[in-house]
Order: sequence, then structure tokens, then C-alpha cells
Amino acid sequence: MNAHDLFGGGIAVITGAGAGIGAGLARHASQLGMTVVLADIDEPAITALGEEICAAGGSAVNMLCDVRDAQAVEALADTVYRDLGPVRLLVNNAGVEQFGYLWDTPLPNWQRVVDINISGVFHGIRAFLPKMMATDAPAWVWNLSSIGGVAVVPLQAPYIMSKHAVLALTECLHLEIQSAGHAHHLHVQAVLPGAVVSNIFESAGGVASGDTGAAEAQRNAMLDIKTEAMDPLAAAAVVFEQAAQDRFYLLTQPDYVGSAMAERGRILTTQEAPQLQTKRRFETGQH
Ligand SMILES: NC(=O)c1ccc[n+]([C@@H]2O[C@H](COP(=O)([O-])OP(=O)(O)OC[C@H]3O[C@@H](n4cnc5c(N)ncnc54)[C@H](O)[C@@H]3O)[C@@H](O)[C@H]2O)c1
Repeated sequence: MNAHDLFGGGIAVITGAGAGIGAGLARHASQLGMTVVLADIDEPAITALGEEICAAGGSAVNMLCDVRDAQAVEALADTVYRDLGPVRLLVNNAGVEQFGYLWDTPLPNWQRVVDINISGVFHGIRAFLPKMMATDAPAWVWNLSSIGGVAVVPLQAPYIMSKHAVLALTECLHLEIQSAGHAHHLHVQAVLPGAVVSNIFESAGGVASGDTGAAEAQRNAMLDIKTEAMDPLAAAAVVFEQAAQDRFYLLTQPDYVGSAMAERGRILTTQEAPQLQTKRRFETGQH
């Protein structure tokens, strides 16, 4: 199967569609022939993207939705099923970053990461899965983890924790779908991007007191990576193709993310403590 066979029509709901990876996935889904529901808190961003997609001959619907709000996500699902029809693809993509030492992290910044990156994914599953399971129609759910879902990185602990959580949640969900007898039509997959061009580092939280310099140095280091980051449309094409090949872990940069996976496996099985390491080490596969 290729992506055109599986995603050449139907409805795709993408949270955090207003920028970066979500916008890339929305553009690519539209190019494949899907109707895209752009769900985000950034109204101007989804309005502009919706207009762009429609001007290019696609079909897009904007829906303001804050994934932190379980009732808002339920309302999103109800509205989509009532007004548009069954969802073929749900992408729980909305996510935010946080920089700084864990002990300096302001409580609201911790809560923001947990509420958006973890609870936001849970709210999507809770709102859409029962509707997807009500028929035998094929449907896909993609949850955005990250290379940070298998790596450990200092000065980004809440974010890294949230991406490990999304990965584990997605793996458990896959087993639950098997256990509940829906694996013949319902496909859950974890997306693990490497570096993809987006706004995530600019909009990231920092710290108000303590070692603000360390937090901002980490932000700047991540902003530097942006120059080597992948284009979101190219990343989306890779993710759709891997999903069509029925892979469970969808990797935008298989070598880069794969070397982080190998390193994770190595430290767990050797029982060594994680060591400070650079991004380069993942890229070159050197350990
Ligand atoms: N860009 C990367 O290199 C990278 C790498 C690995 C994983 N990811 C993951 O990809 C996902 C998308 O990130 P991105 O880099 O494209 O970020 P981005 O900041 O460019 O886009 C995120 C979008 O989510 C929206 N959003 C934020 N809070 C929201 C909320 N409460 N409800 C609904 N929408 C909300 C924002 O308005 C924005 O449009 C995230 O889950 C992120 O962790 C990104």
C-alpha cells in the first residue's frame, strides 16, 4: 500500500495544525485528497492555512480548539462527525517545549507541558476513539512523540518526560485496541520526528528565576539546530508513507531517530547511567 491508497480521501483532524509539523501534515493530507480539519488555538494561523489549502483546490475546515480542555475536544469530535462525517485520520499533534533546569521550572510551565503534550493526546483519544470503534471503517490515530521520546536531554526534562509518556501511552493503546478486537480496522501509530522546522522553540517556556542563562542557552542551542532541520512538508510525506507501510514507529529521519533508539536500548540493557551527549552523537551513530 502507498499513502495515496490509504489516505486519498476521507477526513483528517489535526490538532496544532496552525504551524510546523501539523501544518505540514495538513498540507500533505490535502494534497493526497483528504478533507482536513485544522484544530488549533491560533485562529489567524489556521485561517491563513485553510485559505491556502482551499485556494490550492483542497478542502479545509478551521476549528478553534484548545486540547487542554477535554470538553472542547469532545465538542470538536461531535462537530466533525455531525457536520463532516467519520474521521479516517486523527493526529494528536499539538505540543509545546520547556527549557530550564527542572528545579527552576515554574509550576504553570510544568502544568502547561503536561496539559498540552500529555492530557491533550488523552483528550483526543477519549473523544474520537469510541466514535472510530462504533463502525468497522478503517481509521488511523497518530500521536506525536519525538526523538525526545527515546532520548534523555538535560534542561528540557518536562518536555522529554511528556514525549516518553506519549510513546508509552501509544504503545499501551495499541495493545488495548488489539485486546478490544479493533485491530482489524483501527491503527494507532507513534510519530517520532527528529528536527523539523517549526515555531516550537520560539514559543517554548523558560524559567523566571534561578539559572535563566542555562535555560536560554538551551533554547539557543535548539534554535541553532533549526538550520539543519527538515522541511515540514517533506517530513509529512515520510510519515504518511511509513504509516501506509504499517510501521508502528513513524520516523521523519530514520537514521537520526533510529540511532537515538539504539542508544536508548544500549543504556537500558547495560544499566549504565545516561551521559551528557550532543545531537551529533545521534546523527553519526557514535557511542
Ligand atoms: N519540530 C520538531 O523538531 C519536533 C520534533 C519532535 C517532536 N515534535 C512534536 O511535534 C508536534 C508539533 O510541534 P511543532 O514543532 O510543529 O510546533 P509548533 O510550535 O510549530 O506548532 C504547534 C502548534 O500547536 C498549537 N497549539 C499549542 N497549544 C495548543 C493547544 N493547547 N491546543 C491546540 N493547539 C495548540 C500552536 O498554536 C501551534 O500552531 C509537537 O507535539 C512536538 O512536540 C516536534
